[in-house]
Amino acid sequence: MTRKIVLYLMMLTLVGRADEGMWMPQLIDALNFKDMKKNGFKLTAEQIYSINKASMKDAVAIFGGGCTAEVISNKGLILTNHHCGYGAIAGLSTVEKDYLKNGYFAMTNNEEIYCKGLTVTFIKRIEDVTAKVLTNVKQEWSEKSKDSIIQFNIKELEKTARGTTQLETFIRPFYYGNEYYLFVTEVFTDIRLVGAPPESIGKFGRETDNWVWPRHNADFSMFRIYANRENKPSAFSADNVPFTPAYSFPISLKGAEKGDFTMVYGFPGRTQEYLTSYAVELLVDQQDPLRVELREKRLKIMAEDMKRNDTLRLMYATRYAGVANAYKKWKGEMLGLKKSDAVNKKKKTESDFINLFANDAAKKEKYSALMGQFQKIYADYAPLSRQYDYFTECLWGIDGMRMAGNFITVFAELKKKQAGKENKFGEVLKNATPLIPFRNYNKETDKKICKSMLATYKANVDPSLMPNYLDSMITVYKGNTDELSDFLFANSSFIDNKKASVMFTDFEVNAALYERDPLYQLAAAIYSHYQKTVVPQMTYYDREITQLQKEYMQGLRENVANRKFYPDANGTMRITYGKVADYNGRDGIEYKHYTTLDGLVEKNKTGEEDYFVKQRLLDLYDKKDFGMYADKNGKLRTAFIGSNHTTGGNSGSPVLNKSGELIGTNFDRNWEGTMSDVMYNPAFCRNITLDVRYTLWIVDKYAGAGYLLNEMKIIK
Ligand code: ARG
Ligand code: ASP
Repeated sequence: MTRKIVLYLMMLTLVGRADEGMWMPQLIDALNFKDMKKNGFKLTAEQIYSINKASMKDAVAIFGGGCTAEVISNKGLILTNHHCGYGAIAGLSTVEKDYLKNGYFAMTNNEEIYCKGLTVTFIKRIEDVTAKVLTNVKQEWSEKSKDSIIQFNIKELEKTARGTTQLETFIRPFYYGNEYYLFVTEVFTDIRLVGAPPESIGKFGRETDNWVWPRHNADFSMFRIYANRENKPSAFSADNVPFTPAYSFPISLKGAEKGDFTMVYGFPGRTQEYLTSYAVELLVDQQDPLRVELREKRLKIMAEDMKRNDTLRLMYATRYAGVANAYKKWKGEMLGLKKSDAVNKKKKTESDFINLFANDAAKKEKYSALMGQFQKIYADYAPLSRQYDYFTECLWGIDGMRMAGNFITVFAELKKKQAGKENKFGEVLKNATPLIPFRNYNKETDKKICKSMLATYKANVDPSLMPNYLDSMITVYKGNTDELSDFLFANSSFIDNKKASVMFTDFEVNAALYERDPLYQLAAAIYSHYQKTVVPQMTYYDREITQLQKEYMQGLRENVANRKFYPDANGTMRITYGKVADYNGRDGIEYKHYTTLDGLVEKNKTGEEDYFVKQRLLDLYDKKDFGMYADKNGKLRTAFIGSNHTTGGNSGSPVLNKSGELIGTNFDRNWEGTMSDVMYNPAFCRNITLDVRYTLWIVDKYAGAGYLLNEMKIIK
């Protein structure tokens, strides 16, 4: 081999992988537009993002706290996932009117139901504010000092940018603080539920299918944004009218075939693509396995109780889904990273990086030292991370414990109030119990969780690292954590529905009594122990790690020629593009790139509980009345996969074809592919998209809400 080829092969680990990347829309023209064109994209960069003209960005929104939604009509109709609307739908549901179980579709605007607390956020513009954020930051300062002036600058800049407008603003660091961008947003708060399929369809396959391909759930729900007469955000009011968006996506019924260009426009939450081998090793060998193990125990207890009756099932539905989701993701991530030999690949990337400086002794020295620092810091960090996980995933995994812990600030504010100082007592008291109303809490279930968690904690945490109070309680109960749990649950007001409901009226009067509550005492001791012995050190290391990552990132960007580096996901607007693509799962298994309703029926026939559907769906399937939604061969396609690089937060994102038409809604990834948060592997990282034809078929034929299609722009 020639030297050139050897050098090229050697550097391959530094080069980006095909289809990898989450790009900032305002920079797409400068960075990727040529490549997108080459891959088949037909529109202009201005049609993707413009601050002067209506563009796609005006139809992509942050849905609630952590999902994406897209506008699909000029009357403010938005489409997102069922699992994104889940909290809102569950919030509107009661045992009598169970919209989760039965689904809901408004048949007129009047039947659209306001969802308290739900928001939809649009991005008005994005601006590079790096220089402004770093004003007055001195290189020689400690990371902590730098951080505090940066935070100060950010607050000021956000305030100035907001000015007297009704707009909101936020600034986020990119590339570990090498750059900063400002986002000016418009937040709508009158959001109403338009329609959602029954859970048996929206969440068909439940936890069995979650994070798994092939998929058959119609994971969608629809909402409508309401605005005041000036088309501006307004609190809920009967006078509000459907919002008129600047842009809405046309919907194509043409589908997508293998190899077709696709792009996903949304708000990916968090990725860590530039971690070093030391961090990945910690993740695979310690963090993921421990978190998985702890969650498994809680999930089993919840699942058993949810099977008991509908009340318990509804009570725990949202919480179970949340706990299960990350649990399964971590499991898949571990698998994928091991299968890809990720740690060694990262090591190779690091040595390739150092080898770039064969002719530059100073840089070689600098970056070798940097890698040494990474190694050292992670060695110190690992035991802290373990302790922290035993706090958050084990002790704080007991709902009652966490809930009682929330009262620490309530007591603190009350003390201020009693001392005649300025205080937020009323507000924090109201916020202290996220589980209120208590219909969302079952004492017996939580007591079982408490027993399991305390036993696990005692078995795995060295007494010298335990909160003294907990250690002595365990000693008092002669090591019997079950009896300790029984005691706590028998004697605490915080987890007792009746007592706790009184608590809100008499809290101030009986505060001294509540402060002596055994569960509160224990929670407060646990919290303060971790706040003192673990959190400050973790924060210190996190800051140091960010600084090291910042230098590494800068090193990569400055020295690796021909590679465009995308910033890690950070909850801001991004574009990712790729193709419809199948993949090889394991040896001997090839996964096709799409599924059809046939597969749903096949799964249903297994009789497994997670594959239950109502007879109505099976009847419709038998009639094969797929109308304009059918594929050429008369089948109804349900989902497809592609090589778009996505992550949590991308759920609900519009999946667009080469002409910018909506062909589906992003909702998940394949199991092994979840490693893409740390390392994207083009061979098997796939995003899963709900085919929009399945969505519309459900709306039209299943729910009988075909009238909604009249306001959409459908391309046949
Ligand atoms: N795995 C998908 C995403 O992270 C869907 C989650 C829906 N929740 C569930 N537990 N099934 O978030
Ligand atoms: N299901 C995820 C979400 O809710 C998407 C993913 O992680 O791929 O955003």
